[in-house]
Amino acid sequence: MKLHALNNRVSVKDKVVLLRIDSDIPIVRGLVNEGPDGRIARASVGIEWLRQRGAKVVVIGHRGRPNGKRIAALSMSPVAKRLGQLLGTTIPVSKYITGPNVDRQIQNMQSGDILILENIRFLPGERKDDIELAKKLAQLADMYVNDAFAVSHRCHASVHAIANQLPSYAGLELQREVNVLGKLLRRPGSPFVVVLGGKKIHTKIETLEAFLKNGAHVCIGGALAHPFYIAQGCEIGLSFVEKTDVPLAERLLERYGDQIILPEDVVTVKVIRRKAPTTIVNRKNVGKKDYLVDIGPETIRRFSTEIASAKTIVWNGSLGITETPDFAKGTHAIVKRIAARKGSATTIVGGGDTVPVVDSLKLNQSFTLVSTGGGAMMTFLAGQDLPGLDVLKI
Ligand code: 3PG
Repeated sequence: MKLHALNNRVSVKDKVVLLRIDSDIPIVRGLVNEGPDGRIARASVGIEWLRQRGAKVVVIGHRGRPNGKRIAALSMSPVAKRLGQLLGTTIPVSKYITGPNVDRQIQNMQSGDILILENIRFLPGERKDDIELAKKLAQLADMYVNDAFAVSHRCHASVHAIANQLPSYAGLELQREVNVLGKLLRRPGSPFVVVLGGKKIHTKIETLEAFLKNGAHVCIGGALAHPFYIAQGCEIGLSFVEKTDVPLAERLLERYGDQIILPEDVVTVKVIRRKAPTTIVNRKNVGKKDYLVDIGPETIRRFSTEIASAKTIVWNGSLGITETPDFAKGTHAIVKRIAARKGSATTIVGGGDTVPVVDSLKLNQSFTLVSTGGGAMMTFLAGQDLPGLDVLKI
């Protein structure tokens, strides 16, 4: 895939560069909770590159899904703080995202300065890919750089529409991810095993079908398994499920039942908290008041067998509620099995809740690629179009 690429031939000196990063990261007690491969750490590399070359860097990012409303808990302040620590400077956050007030702040910037705009998803136009919003953003800057591979599967104003309003380029980190993933996509070794979990079910369930069509074996855990259990007539107790995903799960089971590997046993609790008493049950014996919080030992063995013989392994999404350490055992066991295949299989891991697990186990160097993207990585590897990349194509 050939993209308009940011490189040393593009002059950024004294230019106002609107830089889209993916700042959707876990925050614990007001602080960014990520390691050396985290999204903010990786974004800081691109920001520093621009600063060194004399750009005025105006950062656009998002946190969570505020759906067009200002939600204080989803402010960009912790992101600014973390970036400031990484880059050794203080970075102001503009609560205005467009308009004369932010324009004035930008006019006062010197070469090498950084300004972060408040969460772009506070504006309703963002998710609508609104051209008017894109035009207002464009008025602030001389050029646009997308260094947010992880959000490039979204057709949003600061990812897609904006790139038609300004000279636009793919950032360095984005180029790196697209190059590595592109190579893998062209020559995936077989057997191909995908391990999928996590919460953001809707995007994944769509890409899942593309992997199945390509002959992959898919091990499913976490909340992503819930619509499949319901499709098979199993109880999921009080666990979360999007009812609209059930018919799709039914269809996938009907068509690709042999390639879909669901947990045989699961860990359940009556209340989700640290040190809650746990029970391991067959998935057919879950009670009406149970919460499913992890995969069981039998499932770990089954998934491990698939991983042991694979030539390509993709993992995205936790297989349990990993925010509570007691429920992270299954996920940790599987990640370690994938890491152990280093050198004998191509291993790609990625996603907002996946990379922190890799970081916490200090396994960052144990995979072919640790991608910042979850949904974006899956969409790319499933061979589907990403609007944020399409608009940057040469
Ligand atoms: C992610 O966390 O995968 C990206 O930031 C995209 O977030 P979204 O699924 O809320 O669009």
